[in-house]
Amino acid sequence: MGKGQELYKKAKKIIPGGTQLLSKRPEQFLPDNWPAYYQKAKGVEVWDLDGKKYIDMSIMGIGACILGYADPDVDKAVSKAIQLGSMSTLNCPEEVELAELMCELHPWADMVRYTRSGGECAAVAIRIARASSGKDKVAVCGYHGWHDWYLAANLGDTSKLDGQLLPGLQPKGVPRQLKGSVLTFNYNKEQFDKILLEHGKELGVIIMEPARGHDAPLEFLQYIRKKATELGIVLIFDEITSGFRMTCGGIHMLYGVNPDMAIFAKSISNGYPMGIILGKKSVMDAAQESFISSTYWTERIGPTAALATIKKYRKEKVDVYLINMGKKIKKIWQEQADKAGLKLHISGIDTLGHFEFDYPNNLAIRTLFTQMMLEKGFLAWFQFKVSYAHKDKHYKLYEKALGEVFPVLAKCQKEGTIEKMLKGPIQTTGFKRLVD
Ligand SMILES: Cc1ncc(COP(=O)(O)O)c(C=O)c1O
Repeated sequence: MGKGQELYKKAKKIIPGGTQLLSKRPEQFLPDNWPAYYQKAKGVEVWDLDGKKYIDMSIMGIGACILGYADPDVDKAVSKAIQLGSMSTLNCPEEVELAELMCELHPWADMVRYTRSGGECAAVAIRIARASSGKDKVAVCGYHGWHDWYLAANLGDTSKLDGQLLPGLQPKGVPRQLKGSVLTFNYNKEQFDKILLEHGKELGVIIMEPARGHDAPLEFLQYIRKKATELGIVLIFDEITSGFRMTCGGIHMLYGVNPDMAIFAKSISNGYPMGIILGKKSVMDAAQESFISSTYWTERIGPTAALATIKKYRKEKVDVYLINMGKKIKKIWQEQADKAGLKLHISGIDTLGHFEFDYPNNLAIRTLFTQMMLEKGFLAWFQFKVSYAHKDKHYKLYEKALGEVFPVLAKCQKEGTIEKMLKGPIQTTGFKRLVD
């Protein structure tokens, strides 16, 4: 067992759930054998606690490092901000420059507020939207973090959020009085219409991801926009995952459908904590009538990192690069699967591609895939979040490794020996209590 797994065993005894983010639980990748902790990360390379180096062909800090780990330009700007003092009694001017930049990139918007994480952004946006519309009920489509307002959807029926990225989210500790305050829908007009029919009068907010695994149907987005305007409902697009992936700004700009508010977090500041709530003046003004205030929302590193990230992204047309490299990886997956005679189902918008092995024991095959790729020096999973630091040389090495691993998976699948090959349990999915 490596040092990382040893440390993780200790962590689970003193940190409930082991990590601070479900998606970083080693059990999701390779139970008992995932390196779990890193000592250094640069570009697309990650060094574990034993000094082993891996190429990250998985989720790149859960999509928080769009330019690659420890990007030199962002880090230079951040180092300067640290040297100049990251905090003071006065405010940092970067807040204003960033507000201007975000409004310039999104001409429909006039104002911003800031937080330092995505879930916080959603909570602030919901508060402002409720204050602005004067109506409490919220319709949600997608994943929007861990706060009470969102988990309230699962009060009474813990499966309501199951279709929205993470199944099994338990609302224990969320006040039961919030039951019925949040209603869920998918990219589906009947479900949305049912909410309008049953709760139309009390519905003050619609929050949705304009794209997740795939683009939302355009007519559906247009319909939601139309209904929100007609009924005086504030429409929020959650761009925390979809933003700055397919274009320099929110993905909604590609669709030509503008929300009243949009929220951004991990795609904007390359690994430094930052969250932006962007909105029309008519809605954002309500923030003055509700107490929304936090000390660390005023520190300097977040806005400095966001400015450096977005400016570099814009100047170097990172979106064009990401789309091209995203398409390439899908092609590599398909070609290698065909060569090996493996059935693979590939999906996802181009810069957030993923695949499933098209067999009933998909999870077991996925686990063996991650295990074998790890042995070859890759952090590899069924999802891949491409970054600006992924270059053709990394793809070539990955492609070669796939050329060796996929045929073994195909052979083991034929012989029924996938599970026999595993050195630990099958990877887990969704939220559940960890047993030691
Ligand atoms: C669409 C979306 N909303 C909200 C969040 C929550 O952000 P955070 O994990 O920074 O709290 C995420 C995180 O994955 C997300 O993808």
